[in-house]
Amino acid sequence: MNIRLEASGDVAAVGNVVRAAFAGDQEADLVDALRRDGDLLLSLVAEDAGRLVGHVGFSRLWIAQAGQRMPGVSLAPLSVSSDHRRRGVAAALVEKGHAHLRAAGETIVFVLGDPAYYGRFNYSVDAAAAFDCIYAGPYFQVLALTDHAPKAGAIAYASAFDRLQ
Ligand SMILES: CC(C)(COP(=O)(O)OP(=O)(O)OC[C@H]1O[C@@H](n2cnc3c(N)ncnc32)[C@H](O)[C@@H]1OP(=O)(O)O)[C@@H](O)C(=O)NCCC(=O)NCCS
Repeated sequence: MNIRLEASGDVAAVGNVVRAAFAGDQEADLVDALRRDGDLLLSLVAEDAGRLVGHVGFSRLWIAQAGQRMPGVSLAPLSVSSDHRRRGVAAALVEKGHAHLRAAGETIVFVLGDPAYYGRFNYSVDAAAAFDCIYAGPYFQVLALTDHAPKAGAIAYASAFDRLQ
């Protein structure tokens, strides 16, 4: 299993993996829109024997607080082909993504998902409750990558998210 950065030739295969994982077009369209808008900060793929079997996208978001605008990151979507699940592919994508983001100086990542899954990467629902966001609620979680991460604020996702239903 190889986790690597998405290359230009991967775009169609990424779309297929995401579409199959979510059984619909919405998340694959989101990835395409983020990429087109220049908001896809980091896109990683998992490759097994030359076949693309997993993908994670991280996009730019902004946190406004006390008249300041600070950059943050959204993890979405996370996709693994059904015949490659429960082997740690998603965990490897998420961990490698965090490592890339830390190295790039990013401080904070938000995710909307099941806390039973994302809790294993130390994402916190309680910490996310301090942020004002349209996705706020029991599935909204945050991970501070450094001690200097923002602790509160109003979150604006990339505009591609506005087009989600
Ligand atoms: C969620 C998903 C990415 C996990 O991929 P994966 O490679 O199988 O994940 P991992 O191997 O790292 O972890 C598997 C573990 O997570 C658990 N898990 C998977 N999805 C879960 C969920 N929604 N809630 C809680 N636990 C979950 C599995 O039961 C398994 O548990 P175990 O380690 O105790 O056996 C994959 O199932 C998928 O693509 N699902 C469809 C798309 C989706 O829902 N994406 C996430 C949206 S936030």
